[in-house]
Amino acid sequence: MPTLYDSFDLSGIHLDNRLVMAPLTRNRATPGNKPNALTVEYYRQRATAGLIITEATQISPMGQGYIDTPGIYSADQIEAWGSVSDAVHAAGGKLFMQLWHVGRISHTSLLPDGASPVSSTDRKPNAMTFAAEGFVEVSAPRALRDDEMPGLIDDYRKAARNAIDAGCDGVEIHSANNYLLEQFLRDSVNDRSGPYGGSIENRTRLVVEIMQTVCREVGANRVGIRLSPMTTFNDTPRDSDPQALYTYLVEQLKPLGIAYVHVVEGETGGAREPEDAARPFDYNALKAAFGGCWMVNNGYSKEMAGSAIAQGSADLIAIGRPFISNPDLVRRFEEGAELNQLQEDKLYGGGAAGYTDYPTL
Ligand code: PHB
Repeated sequence: MPTLYDSFDLSGIHLDNRLVMAPLTRNRATPGNKPNALTVEYYRQRATAGLIITEATQISPMGQGYIDTPGIYSADQIEAWGSVSDAVHAAGGKLFMQLWHVGRISHTSLLPDGASPVSSTDRKPNAMTFAAEGFVEVSAPRALRDDEMPGLIDDYRKAARNAIDAGCDGVEIHSANNYLLEQFLRDSVNDRSGPYGGSIENRTRLVVEIMQTVCREVGANRVGIRLSPMTTFNDTPRDSDPQALYTYLVEQLKPLGIAYVHVVEGETGGAREPEDAARPFDYNALKAAFGGCWMVNNGYSKEMAGSAIAQGSADLIAIGRPFISNPDLVRRFEEGAELNQLQEDKLYGGGAAGYTDYPTL
């Protein structure tokens, strides 16, 4: 039976083990929305993860929704990320960059020329974001026109190319947590007519076109995707039929031959089996519908992770907060060592404290 500590062939990319550092927003990409020397050190310290998925990184200035998150749309961002990937590779690790567009989870003060956020809809959620003035309600969005879609898809293509140019081993398209792509997927948000609204086929069209385009650009073996069928994160109701929606989506992704699907099970950072759900979600059925490499996330302990790998219910396990507080998490799991406590007040923003100063064994 496979274990967490066995190596893994991720569509031709060798991973030393099956523990993945999940994408984690840290709001320290300053100045210039790009990684700095501390970012390099932070990821270098965690390079014994089988795979690092970077913090969510905006594909364009319009994709930003929080202060001091990094981008991958300018030459100096590509260069700065190059220092991160060099350090991770020198330490024996692998990294995929998570490509992000927040859609309507943003504020005019974070966007070029005070623009309104863009989405599938012009309806505003009650969500909050963090801007220069602190926590603020998100701004009312503007619904994207159908004739803007080719430009948006091309922004994903360019960002993927930039991530590879920066030395990343691949990219993960962020289609989770009710940011832009889930704002198209769900009928609880997407109120469009036309090719990108209405039927499941139409609501999944944008994600599928982005995945096709990005796969053509950098090779399908370097492209993963993150989904979160049941989360209500960012004040967003579930789809009326999540099982049908996400099954259709992974069936469209299957023929592309992508590196993996990464699923947040349940509420992001919360209950794995939300009690308010109309029906429990069948993740095993979704895995079977996809048929390829399956990465899971959300509250996995070492024991849960080990049995998921042993039973074959997942190929890779993504771990979030414990990787923040334990740079050597893989070794600590393997040796049964104690874990460092997370300093929750240092998750977002700030400097080295709570970022690069967690001790190794
Ligand atoms: C966050 O900034 O809190 C955040 C970012 C991306 C996610 C989830 C949460 O997917």
